[in-house]
Amino acid sequence: MKSAIFSSAIAIFATLATALPTETANNLVPRDHVKQVINSSAVVNIREDTPDTALGVSGRGTVSRTDGKHNFQALVKFDIPDGLTGSKCQLAFAYPSLFDGTSQIQVFSIGDANIENATFNKRPFRDQFKGTFHVGWGEATVVDGSGLTFDCPVKGAKAYEVVSVGDNNDVIWDAPWGGLRVNVL
Ligand SMILES: *[C@@H]1O[C@H](CO)[C@@H](O)[C@H](O)[C@H]1NC(C)=O
Ligand SMILES: *[C@@H]1O[C@H](CO)[C@@H](O)[C@H](O)[C@H]1NC(C)=O
Repeated sequence: MKSAIFSSAIAIFATLATALPTETANNLVPRDHVKQVINSSAVVNIREDTPDTALGVSGRGTVSRTDGKHNFQALVKFDIPDGLTGSKCQLAFAYPSLFDGTSQIQVFSIGDANIENATFNKRPFRDQFKGTFHVGWGEATVVDGSGLTFDCPVKGAKAYEVVSVGDNNDVIWDAPWGGLRVNVL
């Protein structure tokens, strides 16, 4: 039953995805120029209201903020395969399961990919701003793509932090088929 609901949800998303233009932002590379897609390998949510509790690896990424607090943030890990040196990588976001409020998220690289036991108070330091997305059905629009394209990292794990922009905002995705991904260009 559950899997029937899940696959019909996927079918709906697939229909929506084909009905919509594949790219909504002019600073994202068209999908047919993408050589390889790297889906996330782990998502860990951290919650401001339970700042010392490790919520662990989840199948669902949750980013939200209510009244300037009650933040949920998501740490997202990718296992970068061998042989990508010399290629460009680009962060992209698609197929949320829910979004409302500002529907905007910001992505930062973080200093360590060991995210499994992270809590709101104890987590890898925030490294560099990567970009801002406006989330909608299908492919998210890029609001600020200044750091989204970069030289592909060497083989190994790389992790990012996803946070809410503005207040009274929710963006939720089912990983790894939705949410943040890395396109190899
Ligand atoms: C997370 O905590 C468990 C239990 O203490 C430990 O075995 C594991 O190595 C930790 N993982 C990381 C990535 O720190
Ligand atoms: C990555 O996720 C997409 C759906 O967004 C899926 O079509 C694709 O098969 C996945 N790739 C891998 C390598 O799991």
